[in-house]
Amino acid sequence: MNKKPIIVVLDFPDAKSALDLAARLDPASCRVKVGKELHTAAGPKVIDELMQRGFDVFLDLKFHDIPNTVASACRIAASQGVWMMNVHASGGRRMMLAAREAVDFTSVRPLLIGVTVLTSLSNLDMSEIGFVGTAADNVMRLATLTKECGLDGVVCSAEEATGLKAALGAEFQLVTPGIRLDNDAKGDQQRVVTPIDAIRLGSDYLVIGRSITHAKDPIATLHSINQQLAAMKSITSTA
Ligand code: C5P
Repeated sequence: MNKKPIIVVLDFPDAKSALDLAARLDPASCRVKVGKELHTAAGPKVIDELMQRGFDVFLDLKFHDIPNTVASACRIAASQGVWMMNVHASGGRRMMLAAREAVDFTSVRPLLIGVTVLTSLSNLDMSEIGFVGTAADNVMRLATLTKECGLDGVVCSAEEATGLKAALGAEFQLVTPGIRLDNDAKGDQQRVVTPIDAIRLGSDYLVIGRSITHAKDPIATLHSINQQLAAMKSITSTA
C-alpha cells in the first residue's frame, strides 16, 4: 500500500469552500482532487493555490475528445504541475497515445490515468447505452487497452480491482472512487466499497468525496480512515 492512498474530493461550487477545507487538511495525510465542478467555477488558479499549500493535485477532468484536442489539453494541464490527470479510455487508442505523448514531454510527468466505466453506471445503464457485456467486462477491456497505450493506470470500481491487478500487474495503478463508509448513503454511485475492502481488493488510491466532505467532522473522518488503513497495513506486514 502506498503511504498516502486517500485522495479527498474537492467537489465545491467555489474556490473559497474548497480552500477552506484544504486549510484544515494536512498534505501529509491526503492528496486532493479537483474535478469538473470546482475547475469550472474557479479555473486553474485553484490548482496553483492547492499546490502552493503542498498538496498533490489530481486533475479529474476526464478528457474525451479528438486526439489533437485531448493532447493539447493534457500538455497544458501537465505543464501546470498536477500530480495525476485522466482521460476517458473510451476515447480510443489514438486519443490515449496522443495524450501520453503530450505528457511524456513535460519536465515533471504527471500520472496519466484512463477512466474505464463510471462507478455510477450499473449493468442496466451499460446495456441501455449500448455496451455489450457487464460493467466488469467493459472495465477489463478498456483497462487492457489503456495499458497497451502506455498509461499508468485506470479509474475503476474497487469491485474490479482484484481481477485487474491479476491481469495487468501490480505496477498498473488502480484509482477507485465509489468509496463509502459502512452507514453512508450510496447517493448516485452504484458500485460502492468501503476503504478497507478497497485496499484489500487491490486499489492503490481511494477517491473519497461525500463520505469525508459531508461528514459532521471531515478531518476526524479522514483521520479515522487513515488509522484503519495503517492498522490493516501493520497486520498484513506482520502476517
Ligand atoms: O462523493 P463521492 O465519493 O461519490 O465522489 C466521487 C468523485 O469521484 C466525484 O468527484 C466523481 O466525479 C469522481 N469519479 C467517479 N467515478 C469515476 C471517476 C471519477 O465517481 N469513474
